Amino acid sequence: MIYDVQKIRNDFPSLDSGLAFFDGPGGSQVPVEVGNAIAEAITKPISNRNTVTQSERNAEEIVINFRHAVADLINADPNGVVYGRSWTQITYDFSRTLAKTWKPGDEIIVTNLDHDSNIRPWVQAAERVGAVVRWAKFDITTGELPTSAISELLNEKTRLVAVTGAGNTLGTRPDIKAIASEVHRTKALLYVDGVHLTPHTSIDMKALGADFYGFSFYKFFGPHCSALAANPELLEKLDNDKLLPSTSAVPERFEFGTLPYELIMASR
Ligand SMILES: Cc1ncc(COP(=O)(O)O)c(C=O)c1O
Repeated sequence: MIYDVQKIRNDFPSLDSGLAFFDGPGGSQVPVEVGNAIAEAITKPISNRNTVTQSERNAEEIVINFRHAVADLINADPNGVVYGRSWTQITYDFSRTLAKTWKPGDEIIVTNLDHDSNIRPWVQAAERVGAVVRWAKFDITTGELPTSAISELLNEKTRLVAVTGAGNTLGTRPDIKAIASEVHRTKALLYVDGVHLTPHTSIDMKALGADFYGFSFYKFFGPHCSALAANPELLEKLDNDKLLPSTSAVPERFEFGTLPYELIMASR
C-alpha cells in the first residue's frame, strides 16, 4: 500500500506548527475531521438523549453509533460499551463498584508493568475493604510478564486481576489469552487496560477473554475520552452508585449525568 504522506499531513493542522512530536503516550495529534465532528455535533440541534424531538434523537443517535463503533473496533457487544472521560476515571468508577462485593481477606492481583491508572484505583479500593493486594512482577532481564507471574498468585480468594494489554514504557505484551484462561479457572474477573495496546494492533475482546477491556481515543487520533466494554450480562450484575432518577439500564447507568455528545460523536 502506498501512502500519500503530504495528503495525510494535510489532515493534521497541528503539523503546520513546525513542532516535532515524539511523545506517543502524550497522545496523538488530531485530524481536522475529528475537530469538524466535534463542531458539527455541538452546533446542530441537540439536547438530552431521547426519541421524541429531533434534538433528542440527534443525541440518541450519536451515543448508539458510538457504542457500535467501539464494539466493531474491539469485537465487543455494543450493549456493554460504556463511555468515560478517561481510562483513569472509568477504572476508578469500576474499582469502587467491584469492591462493593469484596470482603476482608479477599485478594486482588495487580502488576508492576501497568500504568498507575490500572493499579492505584484497585489498591485503594482493596485497602478500604481490607482485601489483600498481590503484585505480579515482570522479569527485569527480559521485560516480559510471564503468565506464571499471575497464575502462581491466583487462588480461590482472588476476586480481580488487573493487567495491561501492553506496557506503555517497555511495550511488553502479556499473553492476555493465556492469563484469561488461568484467571477463569477461579471466580476472579479480568480487567484489561488496552490503552497502549489498542492503537497498535487489531483487538478481539471476546477472543482475548477479558471481562473488561478499555482504551482511550486520544492515543489514536481521537478526542480526550475513553470507552470500556464488558458483557452486558456482567454489567447487569454490578451494583454501582447512581442518582435516584437516573436510569438503571445497562450500559447507561455507568455513565453519569449528561454526556459530552460532541466528544462521543468525534470518537466514532
Ligand atoms: C497504558 C496506559 N494506561 C492508562 C493510561 C491512562 O489513560 P487516561 O489518560 O485515559 O486516564 C495511559 C496514559 O498514558 C497509558 O499509557
